Amino acid sequence: MTEQSATLNLGEKNANLPVRKGTIGPDVIDIGALYKGTGAFTYDPGFTSTASCESKITYIDGDAGVLLHRGYPIEQLAEHGDFLEACYLLLYGELPTAAQKKDFDYRVTHHTMVHEQMSRFFTGFRRDAHPMAVMCGCVGALSAFYHDSTDITDPHQRMVASLRMIAKMPTLAAMAYKYHIGQPFVYPKNDLDYAANFLHMCFAVPCEEYKVNPVLSRAMDRIFILHADHEQNASTSTVRLAGSSGANPFACIAAGIACLWGPAHGGANEAALNMLQEIGTVERIPEYIARAKDKSDPFRLMGFGHRVYKNYDPRAKIMQKTCHEVLGELGIKDDPLLDVAVELERIALTDEYFIEKKLYPNIDFYSGITLKALGFPTTMFTVLFALARTVGWIAQWNEMIEDPQQRIGRPRQLYVGEPQRDYVPVSKR
Ligand code: CMC
Repeated sequence: MTEQSATLNLGEKNANLPVRKGTIGPDVIDIGALYKGTGAFTYDPGFTSTASCESKITYIDGDAGVLLHRGYPIEQLAEHGDFLEACYLLLYGELPTAAQKKDFDYRVTHHTMVHEQMSRFFTGFRRDAHPMAVMCGCVGALSAFYHDSTDITDPHQRMVASLRMIAKMPTLAAMAYKYHIGQPFVYPKNDLDYAANFLHMCFAVPCEEYKVNPVLSRAMDRIFILHADHEQNASTSTVRLAGSSGANPFACIAAGIACLWGPAHGGANEAALNMLQEIGTVERIPEYIARAKDKSDPFRLMGFGHRVYKNYDPRAKIMQKTCHEVLGELGIKDDPLLDVAVELERIALTDEYFIEKKLYPNIDFYSGITLKALGFPTTMFTVLFALARTVGWIAQWNEMIEDPQQRIGRPRQLYVGEPQRDYVPVSKR
């Protein structure tokens, strides 16, 4: 088969650019030689046409609404597996055998405690601090506690750091929650599975027994699976870019958390629930639909639209099912927020504006209602997203470090500022 290439002519100069084929998905024009051949850069704000790396981890077909991790559809992973199995798959590339799974679960479980000094670190924050602000600080601070796993050139240290972060993130997230509401921290319990342990650390109190409801912990686990990775999204790209300079993994994940916090990204689950609360009743939906369509109004329907999915987000479908399971288990029959959500979704899916722009509900649309029913305040929603996405960030970071092509990420720019000019002394300005 002849190799395809693309030729770009710019005046007298031209560049012959190889076209690369992935296993599936669109071809990629390798523009590495463009600057040398033509003296020009490409311009692509928001990276809508740019692949930033080669990856074997996650594949998304946004038009078909497909999400695969290492080739496995998200629906199958969420239905048949658990979160730690998904973590193993993302990190190592294959589903674990029973023995590998047992060993992996053991290793993660036995890293769940955080250095005791960390608890004093927490108390430096104001009680009313947003838990995401606390997470940014505390995860970044992990590099001050675990020096023995910050040498990124050592594969063993990289794996120890990876396991530490997957294991400690629920502990830190639960501590951020407990600190926020003024309750004592609850230590991890190693006889509980990952999701059940997290719910226990969040909702148990020292004065009484807390039994984790298995339906709710299964729902929590599924929510973690759905958020585990999503190829080169903004926070993952942030982690890769931070890591490209050789920064330690804890610092890179803290950078990812900072990026995830934004309302256009992970912060959308909090924003979506706030929006449903603001709408309040089904009768007020048309007013908000009109606002979403109004170009002069910055309001957007939170939980709708996606840069990549121009079809139903496959995660949103599973989340919708999980939401009904959780509400059913808790006996919540008449949740006004759910009524607003169902009707909003129905109207938006039949509205010309949303159809034409291919704006479908995304994962955040139903996750807020589900997390609220599980007992979490809205301020914790993005923290839960960060907890689950940590494995994706780590898998992508490891892949980048192991890539022989890896170089520091350093985009160029189209300079539109002043050309060179001479300094004017202050007396003459
Ligand atoms: N409500 C109303 N109009 C919208 C919305 C929305 N939620 N999203 C996009 N549009 C319109 C937008 O105004 C634009 O219209 P026009 O072409 O007339 O200018 C068109 O659709 C394309 O939008 P865009 O902003 O160019 O698309 P994007 O790919 O840059 O943005 C997005 C994607 C997710 C940031 C955006 O859809 C959005 O802000 N959605 C609400 C926030 C949200 O739910 N984010 C969670 C994403 S899923 C979780 C995650 O991966 O983080």
